[in-house]
Amino acid sequence: MRIALGVSGGIAAYKACEIVRRLTDSGASVQVLMTRNAERFITPLTLQALSGRAVATDAWELASDQTIKHIDMARDLDAFVVAPATANILAKFAQGVADDLLSTFYLAVTAPVVVAPAMNTRMWLHPATQEAIRTLRSRGVAVVDPESGWLAEREAGVGRLASPETIVAESLRAARRGRSLAGKKIVVAAGPTREPIDPVRYLSNGSSGKMGYAIAAGAARRGASVVIVSGPVALAAPFGTRVVQVESARQMRDAVMVERASAHAVFMVAAVSDYAPKASPSKIKKTAGPLTLVLEEGPDILAELGRTKGAEILVGFAAETDDLIANAAKKLSAKKADFIVANDISAAGLGIGSDRNAVTILGRDGSSVTVPEASKVEIAEAILDRIFGPDAA
Ligand code: C5P
Repeated sequence: MRIALGVSGGIAAYKACEIVRRLTDSGASVQVLMTRNAERFITPLTLQALSGRAVATDAWELASDQTIKHIDMARDLDAFVVAPATANILAKFAQGVADDLLSTFYLAVTAPVVVAPAMNTRMWLHPATQEAIRTLRSRGVAVVDPESGWLAEREAGVGRLASPETIVAESLRAARRGRSLAGKKIVVAAGPTREPIDPVRYLSNGSSGKMGYAIAAGAARRGASVVIVSGPVALAAPFGTRVVQVESARQMRDAVMVERASAHAVFMVAAVSDYAPKASPSKIKKTAGPLTLVLEEGPDILAELGRTKGAEILVGFAAETDDLIANAAKKLSAKKADFIVANDISAAGLGIGSDRNAVTILGRDGSSVTVPEASKVEIAEAILDRIFGPDAA
């Protein structure tokens, strides 16, 4: 497995050492490329010693034998990983600027690209950086999101490089990418629903859609044609997916029933409202005393999919605060699903709205696989591996 690791000039450049070590330990041969600014933070010699290969630093070596090898490597690469990726290099990638070795190399690479941004919070949140990230994602670049925590400038915020472990896992996944779901249609219902109370108010919940979108992105990376039936969320459509926007449970039900036709699998990851008020056609006026809303039962989409199930694989989710496994097992048989992914939402920092999760996957065959706490991207991969088998190239 051949991986090129681009290192750009941020304080987190020293963490590239750990990334190189972990990649080589996994059997990858690693070619390091550094920007001039990265050399201010860490010497090429260190990364050369760890990777066992001369580090490429200069675009003007174009005539030398060494650089011709780099161009060859851009051709035969399994993945190109940039960690840390500065705001500058992300902006250059997004714009196609090729004024140094790393940015020129990016344009020459056809292998999967992974970027792990690291920078000051304000730089990360700047619309210019966010726009660059959106552009790169829309081209299929995998972005390993920075984490929140203490940054080098003794400020707390988002922008810290993700852990070397996460970056390496994402890099290996990109490098080993197979096309095991090519030609298969996968439907994912994700996010919350909104049940109107009147023209301006609604009942909803705190689902961010992150778990469902991570599953959709993972399935698309494996070559599936993916449709996300999505409640209102603040997430961009992952590369290679089509999003059908809905609001209410009723609309979600209708869209899922249309999209399930010829689907290989349907994932109900959405936090669907079980009840809906009878919506008032005009805005409800404030009056003295309490207001009573009468809620009526809405559609149970997963149960309907189970009742009318064809050959498709049906996967439900169970977010529980009590008796996780017992309740999930009940749901598995009551809803006639093939798998129920159970997550305990009583644990702090996990589940709904969070970036992390821990799940147990129950199968109709009585199997039970526990996936310990990890990012939702990693949890999504574990779920896809369990249901469809690993995606080795
Ligand atoms: O029993 P419960 O409704 O909690 O089951 C959760 C599972 O059912 C999830 O997969 C969720 O997407 C789905 N669901 C549904 N329609 C509902 C409520 C939940 O499809 N009205």
